[in-house]
Amino acid sequence: MSAKRILLIVGGGIAAYKALELVRLLKKRGDSVKAVLTKAGAEFVTPLSLGSLTGEKVFQDLFSLTDEAEMGHIELSRAADLVVVAPATADLMAKAANGLANDLASTLLLATDKKVLMAPAMNVRMWLHAATARNLKTLQDDGVTFVGPNDGSMACGEYGPGRMAEPAEILAAIDTVLGAVAATKPLSGLKAIVTSGPTHEPIDPVRYIANRSSGKQGHAIAAALVEAGAAVTLISGPVDISPPLGVTLVKVETAREMLAAAEAALPADIAVCAAAVADWRVAADAEQKIKKTGDAPAPLALTENPDILATLSRHPFRRPKLVIGFAAETENLIAHARAKLAKKGCDWIVANDVSPATGIMGGDSNQVSLITAGAEDNWPSLSKTEVAARLTQRIAAHFGKP
Ligand code: C5P
Repeated sequence: MSAKRILLIVGGGIAAYKALELVRLLKKRGDSVKAVLTKAGAEFVTPLSLGSLTGEKVFQDLFSLTDEAEMGHIELSRAADLVVVAPATADLMAKAANGLANDLASTLLLATDKKVLMAPAMNVRMWLHAATARNLKTLQDDGVTFVGPNDGSMACGEYGPGRMAEPAEILAAIDTVLGAVAATKPLSGLKAIVTSGPTHEPIDPVRYIANRSSGKQGHAIAAALVEAGAAVTLISGPVDISPPLGVTLVKVETAREMLAAAEAALPADIAVCAAAVADWRVAADAEQKIKKTGDAPAPLALTENPDILATLSRHPFRRPKLVIGFAAETENLIAHARAKLAKKGCDWIVANDVSPATGIMGGDSNQVSLITAGAEDNWPSLSKTEVAARLTQRIAAHFGKP
């Protein structure tokens, strides 16, 4: 399973120490974990230990201005693939069952649109109490999944159900829930290749030909496809932004490396070529740094790079079912995009006007038209994330999975 984003709520109970081991196991396999520590939880484990293990800030306050400036609680509750509550105390269960929202943990549980997995831990009598049984049933009816509690001797000296499930059991439950979630996603079972960013074409060991592509649009598309359940290979040229979680990242420098990586990633159902591939490279790049001689500089002889989009579109036996290209133009946008559709042999073209005045190159918004064989759809100015989400919706609809 590809890397996942877990929002872990640590409640107040002696079992909180096991939450640290759970974080360690999740991080070890590449998942990202954002931790929320309740006030009672902080009596058992420190924010420092949780923060050291997650490698991220630990969230504790509902009304922390810095948290709100960086990431609001609504966003925090949704920017995850799964919310895990471990330990889930009787109090946290009662709050969640009744929709209370008077601290960060309970507010996140009410605000989230993601699946919730709870690992209860409490005294035997508390677990067996009619009120907890009622809350358990309510939460199950609301779609919350439970792992444990297990029978055993408890820190309080009693014996019976109430011990939190072991970290390895919680990990297995996380995978079961995520597997079930993944199966319901529109692009689940489909494989996508996304190219993104610029390419760098060497002139000599220290100089190269490049362009201003930031990779923002291609990376956003890769993220949206992952979100929709596709298995995504992101082939990225040199960029300053982080890859989205959950992609298989292949870093490349040159167009030829990008083509080799794309062909190696076949077969795929979907290919989105969003990279700004350099059209030309230096015919013979110098092995040593080219020196000034005092004479007129020798002109650089250029040769054409392979066209990745056209190669995938015309692949003799492994053509992806849907191949999408981009057309960045500074004039006659639609006419040039239509010509490109035919020339490259792809199915759709996302066309955008990248004249410097638009601020699209390197910016956060994009105004595109989606050109298909029979139609032309002009989308309004949207953020690059929104363009990615719309494109992904269209892809899902194309595969009959809206
Ligand atoms: O030919 P032009 O660069 O305008 O075409 C843009 C589209 O073709 C983009 O989708 C880009 O990713 C793709 N392309 C490619 N390989 C090249 C040049 C462009 O995949 N060598």
